[in-house]
Amino acid sequence: MTFVRGLHPDKVKRTALRFSYTLGLGGISIGLTGVLVLTGVLLAFGYRPTTAAAYVDTQAFGQASYPLFLRSLHAWSAYLLLAAAFLHLVRVFYHGAYRDDRRWNWMVGVGLLLLVFFGLVTGAVLPWDEAAMAVLALFGAVAEAVPFIGSWLRGALFGPTADAVLLRAYVFHVLIIPGLLFAGVLIHVWRVRRDGLSGPGES
Ligand code: HEM
Repeated sequence: MTFVRGLHPDKVKRTALRFSYTLGLGGISIGLTGVLVLTGVLLAFGYRPTTAAAYVDTQAFGQASYPLFLRSLHAWSAYLLLAAAFLHLVRVFYHGAYRDDRRWNWMVGVGLLLLVFFGLVTGAVLPWDEAAMAVLALFGAVAEAVPFIGSWLRGALFGPTADAVLLRAYVFHVLIIPGLLFAGVLIHVWRVRRDGLSGPGES
């Protein structure tokens, strides 16, 4: 309870904490991020990021040696996090809580939402199955369509070989994106404390 209170400003109006006001969506997003990290670390013990092993390893997650639900729990908490963070954005927008000093935290929030999205995209590449090929084809075409730097960008993101693109997706998925997400959530919660929570009737 002390921890939950610590995530909020020192002084806050009782009405601003009402579940009917925040819908608990920020807290739900933090909880889902925790589930993602935990299940992700457990999955990492059974996954090798090479084109020869990735498909075999992810298929093995469905077999008896690995708890069947672990892969699904990881994927579902990622989809739910995207939904919860988006609904949180809608709730903040609806209450006009993005104005004045809170505009900085709105921008941190947009960054967090983008990170969650790219976490899903890089995660979809890791099983190295048909869906992964579709994601790579789509994002390769999007990168190439960027004016002037398109082909350079595609080369930089994908690398020279199939193993290189899988390794890059893996490094982004397990190191860079979670690291930035963790730092971003810390900054976001610190800004909520600093700026104070908005409340019903005053944004
Ligand atoms: C991983 C994603 C996110 C997490 C974990 C998170 C977490 C939180 C938490 C715990 C709060 C405290 C109040 C509440 O629960 O509503 C909060 C408030 C806030 N969040 Fe987020 N958030 C995320 C994404 C976003 C996004 C996408 C936006 C908008 C673009 C955003 C903008 C804000 C703003 C402006 C506040 C202050 C609201 C107020 O004073 O009423 N956040 N966030």
